[in-house]
Amino acid sequence: MLAELDSLKATALAELGRLQDAKALEDWRIRYLGRKGTVTQALRGLSALPLEERRALGVAANALKALLEEGYAQRLQALRKAELSARLRREALDLTLPGRPPALGRLHPTTQMLRQICGVFASMGFQVVEGPEVEWDYYNFEALNIPADHPARDMWDTLWIDGADPQGQRARLLRTHTSPMQIRVMEQTRPPVRVVVPGKVYRYEATDATHESMFHQVEGLAVDEGITFADLKGTLYEFAKALFGVERKVRFRCDYFPFVEPGVEMAIDCFACAGKGCRLCSGTGWIEIMGAGMVHPEVLRRVSYDPERYTGFAFGLGLERIAMLKWGIDDIRLFYANDLRFLRQF
Ligand code: DAH
Repeated sequence: MLAELDSLKATALAELGRLQDAKALEDWRIRYLGRKGTVTQALRGLSALPLEERRALGVAANALKALLEEGYAQRLQALRKAELSARLRREALDLTLPGRPPALGRLHPTTQMLRQICGVFASMGFQVVEGPEVEWDYYNFEALNIPADHPARDMWDTLWIDGADPQGQRARLLRTHTSPMQIRVMEQTRPPVRVVVPGKVYRYEATDATHESMFHQVEGLAVDEGITFADLKGTLYEFAKALFGVERKVRFRCDYFPFVEPGVEMAIDCFACAGKGCRLCSGTGWIEIMGAGMVHPEVLRRVSYDPERYTGFAFGLGLERIAMLKWGIDDIRLFYANDLRFLRQF
């Protein structure tokens, strides 16, 4: 009987060593340790034996049972571990594999230029504000010292919404410049005023390489006690240096705009040839970049600012023109033709 237990032990352990999966292990457990399993049966059979024999065999059978239970537990753990590591290997992710790059858009060159210009003025304490593109005759012309019969209206070819000036100041139009925001800002605030106004403007115009019927301007306005032409020059000089390089020189020449007195046109020395004369500056050495001037006393009076107490300067620049100069673009129509080959360069 003892020999039987020994050979049972040998076969059970040999089989256990060969098991490769949980199902086979479970079958093995049932076969030896289950309710009708071989070892259980052997233990049960002991009760029929005489006492002496029963004692000796009982010890051996119980030891075998404990041994097989222990072997089963170890094998189970080993199988689980093997299964887990196989699964980890199977489901492994390669985290070093680069992802698919997301398609990135970009800012339109006009937007980039606009942000750059507003950024320069913001750093000098100007606030950025915007205004309506559909405007009253009153703000676009009348309040800016350009009455209905004023010849200066010819400077701006207007797109009328209600037909050309049928109701005088109450006619609507597409603003021809950003200057009307000077009036709107001053109507709503008291000095000191320091604003820049970027935005779209419209002209009734045949388009060519330097003219578009829609383009952008940036208007500037500063009003306070004691503002002089020197403040205008200093501010615009700083702007020119920030955008076109610290070595820039500036030139101011008299020009006429009804809402400023004196009015000037500002030029920078050509950054392509350093003033020697080239194609970019048409051989003159200078490039005009904006109109400016001291706010006309009539304009201040309109918004109930006392011109004896307050003075101010204003300026207006064409955004696309500045961008064309800076990036060497030779046709303004490229900006809004939606040709990706052009847009991708910025
Ligand atoms: N509004 C003018 C234009 O469209 C530009 C301009 C000139 C604006 C002189 C100003 C200024 O504020 O002072 O041609």
